[in-house]
Amino acid sequence: MDYSIRDIKLAENGERRVEWAIEHMQVLKLLRTLYKSNKAFRGIKIGCCLHITTETANLIINLKEAGADVFLCASNPLSTQDDVAAYLVKYKKVPVFGRHGDDKKAYYQNIKNVMSIKPHLVVDDGCDLISSLHKNSHFTENLIGATEETTTGVIRLRSLAKKGMLKFPVIAVNDADTKHLFDNRYGTGQSTVDGILRATNILLSGKVAVVCGYGWCGKGIAKRLSGMGARVIITEVDPVKALEAVMDGYYVLPIAEASKVGDIFITSTGDTQVIGIAHIKKMKDGVILANAGHFNVEIDIASLEKSAKKRKIRECLDEYTLPTGKKVYLLGEGRLVNLTCAEGHPSCVMDMSFANQFLSLEYLKNHPRLKPDVYNVPSDIDTKVAKMKLKTMGISIDKLTHQQKQYLTSWETGT
Ligand SMILES: NC(=O)c1ccc[n+]([C@@H]2O[C@H](COP(=O)([O-])OP(=O)(O)OC[C@H]3O[C@@H](n4cnc5c(N)ncnc54)[C@H](O)[C@@H]3O)[C@@H](O)[C@H]2O)c1
Repeated sequence: MDYSIRDIKLAENGERRVEWAIEHMQVLKLLRTLYKSNKAFRGIKIGCCLHITTETANLIINLKEAGADVFLCASNPLSTQDDVAAYLVKYKKVPVFGRHGDDKKAYYQNIKNVMSIKPHLVVDDGCDLISSLHKNSHFTENLIGATEETTTGVIRLRSLAKKGMLKFPVIAVNDADTKHLFDNRYGTGQSTVDGILRATNILLSGKVAVVCGYGWCGKGIAKRLSGMGARVIITEVDPVKALEAVMDGYYVLPIAEASKVGDIFITSTGDTQVIGIAHIKKMKDGVILANAGHFNVEIDIASLEKSAKKRKIRECLDEYTLPTGKKVYLLGEGRLVNLTCAEGHPSCVMDMSFANQFLSLEYLKNHPRLKPDVYNVPSDIDTKVAKMKLKTMGISIDKLTHQQKQYLTSWETGT
């Protein structure tokens, strides 16, 4: 946390960008006003491991203004926006651990710094902070519970719970409808395209784009690429998702086949080794590889590093020349392309994800005796976030009449 003295200019830049973001986060802004006076989090220490972006800064400010002591570390070394970190340290007095480009050692030291505050509540994105707390249980003596932001984190948590090893309750914020239906789909969809374009400035129109995984993120990415004129191929392992992709109008192929025809490849599976070196060897000269899944394990980068000569072409764009002379281009070191090559999700969509985070943390604080398990976001929170979002967008909807309510809960159908 060495931003405070040397980075005043950086902090001022961060301030303007954080203020711009909150104008597109009207639900969070409303919650900030509502909770500022009641100080619902007074006396509560919150340890957060999140992408250090303008949207995260606004969540942190909400928690701080509601009375919490908040400590932040980066959930990915390449997504940290240093101006945002500097702003939080300098103007909001939030201890922030993480600089853009930190190495592995610094990354885990940052997590350790946040763990050492012995938090009452934890917010995680990808489960690195929570799993570190499991390995260092002396830091959990105050812990009431945690929330998890992303699909990969929830998978890791469910695995801990299944083995009976989960030590505290965690709310799977990712699984709220007002989170994954919007953040994963529209947020990842748009910002992945943004990341590809910022890193390469290529024309998408007419390109063959291969999207690996047709889950929430994959659906969004495919739709946006297709909207920009790319011809999209989906690869899947789940027959239902594959069928859905076909019915949505995409080509579906195994990766071994898709490798031969794609111009751009984007993984979004949460899985490992989805694109292996054997696939890369089959690819055309000049293809672009990117990953939108949480960890940089979806493309076999280690084998690429071993078997090819590497050259940095421009920011976020590395060229690999294989022994055959064929070149492939990797974006953002194979880390989340939307966060490393662009700024991550638009604020408007993070508004709902972080409103869920804020209200789930309040729920945990008010329910200190939950057993260790993975919990869904309570449905009334999910509904509340949807209602608030619609309201802030100026959209009204209909209400069921008494007669309709009765009809919809009756076994008798009218003729
Ligand atoms: N980039 C971002 O900002 C961002 C945002 C949200 C989630 N994520 C991450 O993106 C990943 C996907 O999240 P999601 O919500 O779409 O998950 P999801 O579970 O909805 O979808 C994943 C899909 O990948 C498929 N899949 C698994 N292994 C595969 C393989 N070998 N080949 C092809 N398909 C395969 C699964 O069948 C599934 O349909 C996770 O790691 C998640 O944490 C990233």
